[in-house]
Amino acid sequence: MTKANIAAVILAAGKGTRMKSDLPKVMHPLAGRPMIRHLLATVGALGPARTVVVIGPGMERVAEAVAPHPTVIQAEQRGTGDAVRAAQPLLEGFAGDVLVLYGDTPLITLATLECLLEARRQPPQPSVVVLGFRPADPGEYGRLVTSADGSLEAIVEYRDARPEERALALCNSGVMAIDGARLPSLLDHLDNRNAKGEYYLTDIVALARRADEPCAYVEAPEAELLGINSRAELAAAEAVVQQGLRVRAMAGGATLTAPETVWLCHDTRLGRDVIIGPNVVFGLGVEVADRVEIRAFCHIEGARIAEGAIIGPFARLRPGTELGRDVHIGNFVEVKNATVEAGAKANHLTYLGDARVGAGANIGAGTVTCNYDGFSKYHTEIGKGAFIGTHSSLIAPVKVGDDAYVSTGSVITRDVPEGALAIARARQEERLGWVEKFRSRKRAEKAAKASAGNAPAPQTKSGG
Ligand code: UD1
Ligand code: MG
Repeated sequence: MTKANIAAVILAAGKGTRMKSDLPKVMHPLAGRPMIRHLLATVGALGPARTVVVIGPGMERVAEAVAPHPTVIQAEQRGTGDAVRAAQPLLEGFAGDVLVLYGDTPLITLATLECLLEARRQPPQPSVVVLGFRPADPGEYGRLVTSADGSLEAIVEYRDARPEERALALCNSGVMAIDGARLPSLLDHLDNRNAKGEYYLTDIVALARRADEPCAYVEAPEAELLGINSRAELAAAEAVVQQGLRVRAMAGGATLTAPETVWLCHDTRLGRDVIIGPNVVFGLGVEVADRVEIRAFCHIEGARIAEGAIIGPFARLRPGTELGRDVHIGNFVEVKNATVEAGAKANHLTYLGDARVGAGANIGAGTVTCNYDGFSKYHTEIGKGAFIGTHSSLIAPVKVGDDAYVSTGSVITRDVPEGALAIARARQEERLGWVEKFRSRKRAEKAAKASAGNAPAPQTKSGG
């Protein structure tokens, strides 16, 4: 297949009214990236010579999200045929295969697109090859009208279809591969004399047949052609994408003990022999090396985790986290913009933000790097082999030297030299015999009060 001979046109001018959103529909994310970028990634694997995205007015965010691919603005939504026509100036002189796709139908696979293009190139080299499917509920999809020999004769839109056409099970997904040399003339002949008063791209099939050119269809599974029009459909598509990512993670050598509870991002990278417990959520930008164990209920984004580390349960790793080999991050530990070097441990109830923790350091329960004064963030440096006692606050900017000890409950405001012990808490005092003196005094006070209460009242209270 000569890759450079494909141009992709992605239709995305629709407002997506049913999403009830300020965000253009195709910008809603699936597995952490806009749905249209999923589609672009799949299409990109075909190596198209050109990719054009058709958007509506005011959709600058879509234009930014699809860059460097060019966008064209379809001023008014006058139908799918009109949308492809809007893309024509960018297809000028292109005579290869034009692939038309919908931005809101992002689950289509590379294999299906290859199959479609293959059918375009096989004799009799049909002018138009349509991707058909047989949905469980054909609803208002356009129907494919085929001839006895199985070739495609026309696509009829539901609203324009006669009852016997509505009864057809084979539906139009909207995805097509079209002979680029024929496309301009086919588009020129479209009209809007139909139920919706729109320029239907689907009419190019009948137009090509009228010119005695062959047309064909190939079929794909319904799951790939799920169109997203509402939040509920977005959630259904997310479930499909997540399922694919889980399968890919497991095929790559990760154990997911309860796969259906693990949420991945499109860019999550997991090494071999990684073990992921139940209810772990990955945000964008996570890289996990081999033999890492991530226990139940962790939330991880923007983090790189080196070999052999053990995370969680209930840990939160935020962007800028870099964990070295064999690091342990335990329950209710939050790490943000911090490097924790090889073998260091923070096992309980800790916040490490804007910090570096040296190799082998031990961070006691309840340690907090106090990194923010309401205006700026400050850095905490903890040397290798350092030991931070339980419930210590390290007020940044501050440095704890290599092998230094910070005693439990300290509030560290100054640098601690290498190898030193810092104690920064109120000194303890003992007062021998204090308790008995205290209690006798209190007992006496109480007894005095009680006898005063039994004396006759100085005044009679008014009743009521
Ligand atoms: C279209 C097909 C129908 C098919 C169905 C599959 C036509 C005439 N009908 O119908 O046969 O079964 O998709 O989902 O093609 N768009 C634009 N500009 C426009 C109109 C649409 O960019 O002027 C884009 C939309 O954003 C959307 C796609 O084209 O991504 C399809 O448009 P939509 O209005 O959903 O078409 P359907 O009526 O569903
Ligand atoms: Mg639609």
